[in-house]
Amino acid sequence: MSTPDDPELQRGLEDVLVAETRLSDIDGEAGDLTIGGFPVAELAADATVEESVFLLWNDRLPTAGELDSFRADLAGRRAVDEAVHAVLERAADADRGAMDALRMGAATADLAGDADAETAARRLVACFPTVVAAYWRYRQGEDPVAPREDLGHAANYLYMLTGEEPDDAAVRGLETYLNTVIDHGLNASTFAARVVASTESDVVSAVTAAVGALKGPLHGGAPGPVLEMLQDVHEHGDPEGYVRETLEAGDRLMGFGHRVYRVRDPRAAVLSAAAERFYEAGGDGDFFETVTEFEDVAVDVLAEHKPDRRLDTNVEFYTAALLHGIGVPRELFTATFGVARVGGWTAHCLEQFADNRLVRPRARYVGAHDRTWTPVDER
Ligand code: ACO
Repeated sequence: MSTPDDPELQRGLEDVLVAETRLSDIDGEAGDLTIGGFPVAELAADATVEESVFLLWNDRLPTAGELDSFRADLAGRRAVDEAVHAVLERAADADRGAMDALRMGAATADLAGDADAETAARRLVACFPTVVAAYWRYRQGEDPVAPREDLGHAANYLYMLTGEEPDDAAVRGLETYLNTVIDHGLNASTFAARVVASTESDVVSAVTAAVGALKGPLHGGAPGPVLEMLQDVHEHGDPEGYVRETLEAGDRLMGFGHRVYRVRDPRAAVLSAAAERFYEAGGDGDFFETVTEFEDVAVDVLAEHKPDRRLDTNVEFYTAALLHGIGVPRELFTATFGVARVGGWTAHCLEQFADNRLVRPRARYVGAHDRTWTPVDER
C-alpha cells in the first residue's frame, strides 16, 4: 500500500495521470485514437496540415477565411536565417544525423525574436520542413531549395527536398501521414515538451527537448530500421525466418508493440490504407506485397513468442512503407515524424501554459547514507 511518504514506484510512469488534455485521446484496448475530437481516420483523410495544426491550437476547424490567412502566415515564416543554414551545412559535413540537425535548427528558431508563445509556435511549425530539407540538400552536396509560399505545407516540404513540384498522390500521402501522427497523448517527446513548458520556460526550448526525446529508437527512431528490415526480406524472402531469427537473437522486432495499444495501432490502419492507395496508383506493388505479408507473419510469430502480451503493428511499420513510397529518404523518416509532431508539441506547450503546474515527480533513493568523507590524498 502506497502512502505519501512511501509512494508506489511507477517505473516509466506507466498509467500515471499527470495532465488533462483536449488534444488527443487514446483507447489502447479498443485501438481508437481521437485527435481534436475527430477519429484519426477522418482527420487524416480530409484535412490539410494547416487545418490540423489550427484545430489543435484553437480546438475548432478554421473558417475558409481563417484558413487562408493561417496558411499565408505559416508560409511567410518558412525561411531560416543564413546563420542556421551555416549550422545545418556544418552538421551535414560533420556526418550528423537528421535528428541532430533538426535539434540544432529547432534551437535557433528564437533568433527571429517572436514576441509571444503562439508566434514562436507558428515559426517552429513553419520552419521544421525547411530545416530538414536544407540539411538533406547539404548532405547530398547540393544547394538548399528555397521554400515556395504558393505551395501548401506538405507539398512545399517535398518540393524543398527535391527541387521538383510533387504530384498530387505524393502530397496526399504525406499529408495523411503528417495528420495521422500530429498528436498522440502523453508520449515521451510530448511529455518532455510539457515538462520544460511547466517550468515556464519557452516553446522553443520545450520543442528542442522534444526533438531529443523523439530521436530514440524506442520512440521515433524505429521507421528507418523497419525499412531496412522490409528491404532485406523483399530481397531475400523468408519473412518467417527473419522474424524468428530476430527474436531468437533477443532483439525486438521494429514496428511492433506499443506501450498503450493492446491491439493494432489505429494509425497503422490509416497508414496502411494510404500506402495501399499510393502503391496501387503506380508504386512498387511487389514491395508493398512483401510489406503486408511480413505484417501477417510477424504478428503470428510474435503471438507465439509472447502469448501473454499482444504485440501488434505500431505506427512505425506503415510509416516506413508509406514514406519510402512517396520518396522521403530513409534517413529523414524520424525527422519527418518531427515535422508532423511539432504541431502537437506546440499545442501541448500552449495547453500547459494556460493551466500550469510544475512537473516534479519523485525518485526513490537507493544509494548509500551516512558515508564518511575521505580526503583525496587518503583514498
Ligand atoms: N519485439 C519483440 N518483443 C517485444 C517487442 C517487439 N517489438 N515489443 C515488446 N516486446 C516484448 C519485450 O521484450 C517484453 O518482454 P519481456 O517481458 O520478456 O521482457 C514484453 O514484450 C513487454 O515489453 P515492454 O518493454 O514492457 O513494452 P513497452 O511498453 O515498454 O514497449 C515499445 C513498447 C518500446 C514500443 C516496444 O514494443 C518496442 O521496443 N518495440 C520495437 C520498437 C518500435 O517499434 N518503436 C516504435 C514505437 S511507436 C512510437 O513510439 C511512435
